[in-house]
Amino acid sequence: MSLAVIVLAAGQGTRMNSDLPKVLHRLAGVELVLHALRTTLPLEAERRVVVAGHGADAVRRIVLDDDPEAVVVLQPEQRGTAHAVGCAAPALEGFAGDVLVIYGDTPFLRPETLQAMQQARARHDIVVLGFEAADPGRYGRLIEEAGTLHRIIEFKDATEAQRAVRLCNSGVLCADAETLLGLAAQVGCDNAAGEYYLTDVVALGRAQGLSAGVVRCDEAETLGINTRAELASAEAAFQSRRRAEALEDGVTMAAPDTVFFAQDTVVGRDAVIGPHVIFGPGVTVESGAEIVGFCHLEGCHVSRGARVGPFARLRPGTELAEDTRVGNFVEVKNAILDEGAKVNHLSYIGDAHVGEGANIGAGTITCNYDGVSKHRTEIGARAFIGSDTMLVAPVRVGAEAMTATGSVITADVPDGALAVARVRQDNKPGLARRLFDRLRAAAAARKRAEGEG
Ligand code: UD1
Ligand code: CA
Repeated sequence: MSLAVIVLAAGQGTRMNSDLPKVLHRLAGVELVLHALRTTLPLEAERRVVVAGHGADAVRRIVLDDDPEAVVVLQPEQRGTAHAVGCAAPALEGFAGDVLVIYGDTPFLRPETLQAMQQARARHDIVVLGFEAADPGRYGRLIEEAGTLHRIIEFKDATEAQRAVRLCNSGVLCADAETLLGLAAQVGCDNAAGEYYLTDVVALGRAQGLSAGVVRCDEAETLGINTRAELASAEAAFQSRRRAEALEDGVTMAAPDTVFFAQDTVVGRDAVIGPHVIFGPGVTVESGAEIVGFCHLEGCHVSRGARVGPFARLRPGTELAEDTRVGNFVEVKNAILDEGAKVNHLSYIGDAHVGEGANIGAGTITCNYDGVSKHRTEIGARAFIGSDTMLVAPVRVGAEAMTATGSVITADVPDGALAVARVRQDNKPGLARRLFDRLRAAAAARKRAEGEG
């Protein structure tokens, strides 16, 4: 059976109290809407449709950047989840098969659960994902009768007796495309919110002789984010799960509670991660590498045997080969360090290639930006860059070349050459002592004048 997915992501999320649309708030370094969309990838849906509204341009950009095959449609006014599904209808034209609707504010769904729903379609015309909530709060309630789903009642519209039901609506729903779009179009807005509720398709479908059933999952999986507090506790839940997985996978962490992962962080077995390390998106740390405390990594690859930190920052495009060293107060961006290269202290290496075994002295800076464009620095194998060298890019330092400490390198340095680019030292005998005497005399005169005045 072919499948299409609709992700509802148009709402502003008023309860977030934010200028940013709710689905663009980040969890584990990734926008909520992308969590929802990525969960559906293993289902190999024929079409993935995202319904955008608030901040639609930004939502479209972020979605298409991650999933160029997705289709983003506009819901100009947020009149409710059924209306949002209606807005996706043109994008489903010519499609026959099942449609799975998920909400863009529900980041923890597992693909396995969605697959179970697809399978449950063999038994029911409409399949809804439900969960038993410890505290059902404001979730919609699933009203079951004799083992089949009778209707979904929104919290705002529920009676006391209905609010006492603990089986809640996750928002995920699966039905045949024609059935779903047909029913969504019949939904009215005579309810407490004055909205077109997608949840009403169950009662409508039942009235027309269709069957509906519930697939259950764990509450943690369907956590829907409506407030900053819920976002923060979802982040905490993600982090504690991810830390436990990393330990399970053989990663050494002395203080796992202080390490923060992104959704896609990959850390190999026997890697050592020190306290207070933060991973942004796109990081791979190979087996046996070590990230010492207080480092910040994003969009980078750290090979086996490399050692990073403490207090280092690796930015996107950083590639550290085996046995490299990046020490304290070093920032690396869009740069490749070949095997055994070392940047141990207080340096900025950006838009650069550092050859095998090269040594970058303390305080070296690749001056990569002229205020308009970025330029590259090439450093050859086994080169020795003296402390406090300014490498004014574009520039190339040859293999086994050296730069003298404190040099400002503006021209290429040939292989094996020593570049000295600083003023020659000039000692003036006795001048310091004479200068001190003069300064002290002037200070004493000032003090006397103040006393008399
Ligand atoms: C919804 C369900 C509720 C369920 C809960 C689970 C409805 C009517 N209610 O409530 O039964 O327990 O989710 O988390 O569906 N959206 C649009 N267009 C709109 C309205 C909403 O795209 O016009 C999107 C939102 O961006 C959001 C999702 O749909 O991603 C859910 O909307 P939200 O307002 O958060 O619904 P809840 O009140 O949480
Ligand atoms: Ca919600």
